[in-house]
Amino acid sequence: MTPYLETPRLLLREFTTDDADLVVQLDSDPDVMHFVTGGEPTLRGEVVAEVLPAWLDYYAQGSGHGFWAAIERATGDFLGWFHLRPGAGHPPGEPELGYRLRRTAWGQGYAVEGSQALIDKAFTELGAARVLAETMVVHTASRRVMEKCGMRVSRTFHQDWAHPIPGDEHGDVEYAITLDEWRAAADGGGAEPAGRRREPRTPDQASSRPSRSASAITSRSGRPRATAAAKASSCSTFTRPAASFTAIA
Ligand SMILES: CC(C)(COP(=O)(O)OP(=O)(O)OC[C@H]1O[C@@H](n2cnc3c(N)ncnc32)[C@H](O)[C@@H]1OP(=O)(O)O)[C@@H](O)C(=O)NCCC(=O)NCCS
Repeated sequence: MTPYLETPRLLLREFTTDDADLVVQLDSDPDVMHFVTGGEPTLRGEVVAEVLPAWLDYYAQGSGHGFWAAIERATGDFLGWFHLRPGAGHPPGEPELGYRLRRTAWGQGYAVEGSQALIDKAFTELGAARVLAETMVVHTASRRVMEKCGMRVSRTFHQDWAHPIPGDEHGDVEYAITLDEWRAAADGGGAEPAGRRREPRTPDQASSRPSRSASAITSRSGRPRATAAAKASSCSTFTRPAASFTAIA
């Protein structure tokens, strides 16, 4: 299988139906799921029937967006996943970054390494004008990842979650980096990321994508899993790609 992306230590590849056990195992760790569902695991049946099919739909559309299995190159081990998906409620060209890694992989810079590479790819190959990410205000680790990737707070917001988890009372925060900010960072303009410089494609060059709305299938709070369609956050498990989201050249 052709990798989607490679970094010095990571390989990002498409998920397959054979990956169900890996996803179930990842989501069975309450620490991993703490800011996602309050610690609740994702049921195997849900992974098989809903999560993986939704992820595979992204690849079928060929837009370059989706969820990607993160493999440690040195060992071949599955570390978790990253996503770069259409930002719910945002115009085309504003994809949303997200990540979920096994606890044994935390603290080694993997989240920043994968995220930075995805941001680079969004600007150089996918025609992004802006890359977004969302998390809870109290999720220090996730916020730090975003900051180390050169993203800055664009808004804070409060949302009524069907099943609140501790920290919800402080709200959620959206981070963003624009193409201009990414360019400035790549040129050594003072922002934090190393920013490997490659010439970005403009949104027009990438494709003229029709507008789409990515509906949430699973909420961050997790219950009720299949019916919390109005709830989407960067911590949620997946969104199903809109059928009209077109491929890029
Ligand atoms: C959030 C997550 C992806 C971070 O992954 P990671 O690989 O440990 O992150 P990195 O090693 O790249 O660390 C990035 C920065 O965050 C800091 N950081 C990591 N965990 C932290 C924590 N618990 N508290 C404060 N800072 C933390 C690191 O120290 C580092 O900053 P530094 O270089 O200035 O020290 C990981 O904890 C995870 O998968 N959590 C469960 C799923 C989840 O919550 N996903 C996000 C949903 S919005």
